[in-house]
Parts: sequence; C-alpha cells; structure tokens
Amino acid sequence: MPSKERLLSRKNANQIGKTNSLKPLTSSRWSGRADLVQGDRYDARWEQLAESGQNIHGEADFVEAYGPLSVLDAGCGTGRVAMELYRRGIDVVGVDLDERMLGTARRKAPDLSWVSGDLTTLELGRTFDAAILAGNVMIFVLPGSEKAVLSSVKNHLITNGVLIAGFEIKPDAISLAEYDSVMSEIGMEPTGRWSTWQRDPYQGQRYAVSAHRRI
Ligand SMILES: C[S@@+](CC[C@H](N)C(=O)[O-])C[C@H]1O[C@@H](n2cnc3c(N)ncnc32)[C@H](O)[C@@H]1O
Repeated sequence: MPSKERLLSRKNANQIGKTNSLKPLTSSRWSGRADLVQGDRYDARWEQLAESGQNIHGEADFVEAYGPLSVLDAGCGTGRVAMELYRRGIDVVGVDLDERMLGTARRKAPDLSWVSGDLTTLELGRTFDAAILAGNVMIFVLPGSEKAVLSSVKNHLITNGVLIAGFEIKPDAISLAEYDSVMSEIGMEPTGRWSTWQRDPYQGQRYAVSAHRRI
C-alpha cells in the first residue's frame, strides 16, 4: 500500500491521439454496445455482487488511499465510484455522455454533481486532487479520441494531482505502451501500475490499473 500522503502536501496504434477535429466526438464505443446492459440494469449487476458479499468499491478504496479532498469520476456511468467517494466525505463530480447511465446515477444520488458531457471536450472550470477512469472507460472511448480524453481529464487536475485508470488490455483498444506514451506527451508522470485495485503487482496481466501524476 502506498503512503497515505495528501496530494497537495504531498488496434489503433497510429490513431491514438489523432482525433479528427472535423467530427464531433459525442459518442463512444459504449453507446454502440447493445449487448452490454446499461443504466439500471448495469447498476443492478453491481448491486447483486455487493449483496453476494463482494467488495465492489476497490476503485474507491484505491483512490481514497491518495487522500484526495476532491475527485473527478470521468466516465462515471451509473455513479458507483462517485457515490462511494461522496459517502466517504470526498467532494466528487461525475461526468458521462450516456444519459441512460446518468439517469440511474441522478435517481440514486440526486444531491451529487452529475455532468452530462463528453470527456474529449470537457471544461468544468475547476480542478480536482484526483481523477479516475474506472470500469474500462479507456476502452469504451471512441478510437482516436484517447489523447483528447486524457488531456481534458489532466487539465482538471491540480499540479501533483493523480490520474488513475483501470482497463482491460485488448487488441482493438489502447495498449499500455500507447497509454504511457500519450501520458508522457501530455505531462503526466507514471507513479505505479498494478493488476488489480487491491494493488497486486502488474506482470503482464490482461487488466491494468495505472496511476500518473500531473507534473
Ligand atoms: C463500463 S462503463 C463504466 C462506468 C463507471 N465508471 C463504472 O466503473 O461503473 C464506461 C462508461 O464510459 C462512458 N464514456 C465512454 N466514452 C465517453 C466519453 N467520451 N465521455 C464521457 N463518457 C464516456 C460510457 O458512457 C460509460 O458510461
């Protein structure tokens, strides 16, 4: 486990980053996946897991260990991570472009800040101590939009703020090498990589949790 430092005191390979500026990015690979359940049904799956005794808050545990006072839940979906961080006393804003997912989040937690928006062009006019792209967001953004997504999320971080992303390694999505290359280009320094939200070491597994710090 890392020290609980306060942040302040403390295959589209050649498409990555080449967003077509003529095409508005108001969609995602998620919205096209009719086979994946969305909104209330997506949320019900997590609730069933929780009821069966599984910890569904590995992401929240992971983020909280950095001691942030504020967190941007980027691609928040139905708000599973944001709601848990809020319950733990953290100032949190959830952003997503899928209204079905956000509808569930708004109904379950009407007092939280839920923003309907595209991460490629997000401008909230504020910064956060940490940002999280949980639940495979990076493989559901449009191919070619990855750099725009990561740049705009980074722009919402304070200096030394941490950007955490967990996603599957798949042939048709961003690779870890591409991810690290984009992060380096946009001024984000790697601070660690794991294979689970419980910080098991990363040794080439098909799921990676990466943390980078804004320089
Ligand atoms: C698998 S869901 C994960 C939801 C949530 N983070 C979780 O862990 O439960 C992926 C989410 O990414 C969102 N997403 C994909 N591309 C996006 C974009 N460009 N802007 C905002 N949200 C996006 C989708 O709408 C979807 O809700």
